[in-house]
Amino acid sequence: MNGRHYDVAIIGGGIIGGSIAFELAKRRMKVVVLEKDRAVSQASSAAAGMLGAQSEFSSENPLVPMALKSRSMFPKLAEELKELTGIDIGYIEKGMLKVATTDEERMALKQQYEFWTKIGQPVQWLSPDELRQHEPNVNQSLLGVMYIPRDGQISAPHLSQAFVQASMIHGAEWYEFTEVIDIKREEDSYKLLTNQGIIRAEAVVAAAGAWTGLFLEKTGCPLPMFPVKGECLLVKTAKPLIQATIFAKNGCYIVPKKGNRLLIGATSTPNTFDKKVTVHGISSLLERAMQLVQGVGGAEWERTWAGIRPQTGDGLPYIGEHPHYRNMWIATGHYRNGILLSPITGILMADLIERRDHREIDLSPFSVKRHNGATCTT
Ligand code: FAD
Ligand code: GLY
Repeated sequence: MNGRHYDVAIIGGGIIGGSIAFELAKRRMKVVVLEKDRAVSQASSAAAGMLGAQSEFSSENPLVPMALKSRSMFPKLAEELKELTGIDIGYIEKGMLKVATTDEERMALKQQYEFWTKIGQPVQWLSPDELRQHEPNVNQSLLGVMYIPRDGQISAPHLSQAFVQASMIHGAEWYEFTEVIDIKREEDSYKLLTNQGIIRAEAVVAAAGAWTGLFLEKTGCPLPMFPVKGECLLVKTAKPLIQATIFAKNGCYIVPKKGNRLLIGATSTPNTFDKKVTVHGISSLLERAMQLVQGVGGAEWERTWAGIRPQTGDGLPYIGEHPHYRNMWIATGHYRNGILLSPITGILMADLIERRDHREIDLSPFSVKRHNGATCTT
């Protein structure tokens, strides 16, 4: 690695870095991914894998067209990655049930239902009888249930690994335990100083998840970003309890996984990079999950974990060029939806790097320049 020159160096080997590497390598660029830990060892392997293009939004948002487009890419992507790497990303389209447990939540859910109905995306308000038919083990005294048939799911660790391997098959190089410490502009290229030596690249992509803001401070452009920790657990039941993902308005969700497993998530603790799993976090998730689905209490314990979501000041990701450095790109801040948004982010970033026009999706709301570069000092 030391002393080599690449077309593009990607800082951060999570799902965003992986998807970008895959798309660039497919376009025959010479790509390197530099990851300070193991590949996809942070948020990307902690995620529940929900493709919540509709469940995560209740009103107009610049992310909606991007989320819908990205969700629509999964069936073909699953096939492409399986063929290339042999990895099954576990794509399942059995929908999501978003549920309300209080009058206030019911009103909010109704508004969300009306928003999606107006836009013409499929949602269904279920009667108690319909709920019983769909999901007999779900609490029948819920105050409102909205079915979102197209919000499917995948296995986040498998998708993340598939991007790594697929990008390598197309020629990308990955270096683990390689932390980018500093970056310097040299005429028309960049010099990246890492704990393993120096590399050079024509273009750089900062895709370091929740750590991107810290890293960019070194380029004189500290973006308003903060970490949000999320804890999860996995349990196993004797027989399947649910078909669809169950998502309560208070942030608790239960995602049915292979082998009668249930992934139960997730807490939200802002402003910490500490990944320790707390008794309080897990017990509050379990309490809510047991109220939502009958039979969870008898499930077998498997494991717990936590990950750090990359959040931005205004809740929108950064997908664009550094305000002052040409060919330095930023792709981060996908917060709760980085898995869902990974396919489209890879394509958008590759198009930007190639300076291709992107008319289908308006990228201006995600511009790094949206704060007018006011925070940048260089
Ligand atoms: P990361 O996966 O964190 O990767 C960034 C990488 O950069 C890390 O590996 C880090 O080690 C590396 N890095 C940092 N600094 C440096 C440096 N200086 N040099 C080299 N490498 C560096 N999203 C969904 O769409 N659906 C879900 O169901 C979902 N569930 C979630 C559940 C939980 C509990 C959590 C925590 C998140 C969830 N998300 C979900 C969100 C999703 O996981 C994230 O948005 C996504 O993983 C972010 O990907 P990333 O590549 O930007 O970040
Ligand atoms: N999207 C689910 C989570 O971030 O917990």
